[in-house]
Amino acid sequence: MQKQQTILITGASSGIGRQIAKTLAQKGHKVFAGIRKKSDKIELEKLNKNIIGVYIDVTKSSSIDKAFWFVIKNTDKLDVLINNAGIALAGPIEGLSTETIKEQFEVNTFAPLKVLHKFLPLLHGGKIINMSSMASSGIFPYVSPYCASKRALDIMFNSFALENKDNIKVISIKPAVIKTPIWNKSVKRARELFEEQNETLKEKYIKDLLLMEKNALESNNTGLDVSKVALTVLKAVEKSNPKPSYCVGIKSNFAMTLQMLPQGLLNKLIKIKLCRL
Ligand SMILES: NC(=O)c1ccc[n+]([C@@H]2O[C@H](COP(=O)([O-])OP(=O)(O)OC[C@H]3O[C@@H](n4cnc5c(N)ncnc54)[C@H](OP(=O)(O)O)[C@@H]3O)[C@@H](O)[C@H]2O)c1
Repeated sequence: MQKQQTILITGASSGIGRQIAKTLAQKGHKVFAGIRKKSDKIELEKLNKNIIGVYIDVTKSSSIDKAFWFVIKNTDKLDVLINNAGIALAGPIEGLSTETIKEQFEVNTFAPLKVLHKFLPLLHGGKIINMSSMASSGIFPYVSPYCASKRALDIMFNSFALENKDNIKVISIKPAVIKTPIWNKSVKRARELFEEQNETLKEKYIKDLLLMEKNALESNNTGLDVSKVALTVLKAVEKSNPKPSYCVGIKSNFAMTLQMLPQGLLNKLIKIKLCRL
């Protein structure tokens, strides 16, 4: 039996985060599960007595502060922080405002840094597990803000792993496509953003956008099960010496290998793939 660990995970209301909270709690770990709605707190706490819902909107410093005070009322040490909350914004770069791109980075990149800064005093000798993505390879056009936000997350936290003097380990989890609500949310938001564009841009990109939509919605059927990610996270939590990076799904290994090709060759391959969609 593993020693009980105390874990904080953000974005536990649905998808991957919910499954991670459930899996870790079933293994006897104490899980502070980040949520934003009362109904999600009730539902999560019903899943297992080791789960304690904690309100945290990762983009708001005041909310992170409140979550911190809540957590330290219940524990004086965190063994693991899991930065899981995330969103996926999509569209052609030409039509994406810098505000939209900033929004993507606020949730996926800056928020984990804010959470790290706040919870660092509790993490001495512990672990940070970041929910990155195979998108960190940067090889997926039309979701470039998402790809860039995950790559930046990986770079920042890898630096932190090399620099920190508190023996905190950093682990990046890079799932391939997983069946979760993120895909429907992303398509809905991409449509809204596209509707705001002028007619010339719409005409230029409508065909590509519809293909991307179709691809994204197919993920609801073809994606891997959330349990694959949760079991990888469990391994990273329980191993004393986890790897700094885990791909989940063969397509993720493939993406991380492809990104090492010379850019010219890689772009040719991506264009061939786009033409075949
Ligand atoms: N699904 C995939 O194919 C895939 C692949 C690779 C990586 N990932 C990554 O896995 C993570 C989880 O995504 P998912 O697929 O499980 O999607 P999901 O079901 O949509 O879950 C996203 C979670 O993030 C939370 N969240 C969003 N914005 C937040 C904010 N400002 N503050 C606090 N929580 C916030 C959501 O909470 P609310 O319910 O309150 O909005 C929800 O709990 C993300 O980082 C995503 O990039 C997903």
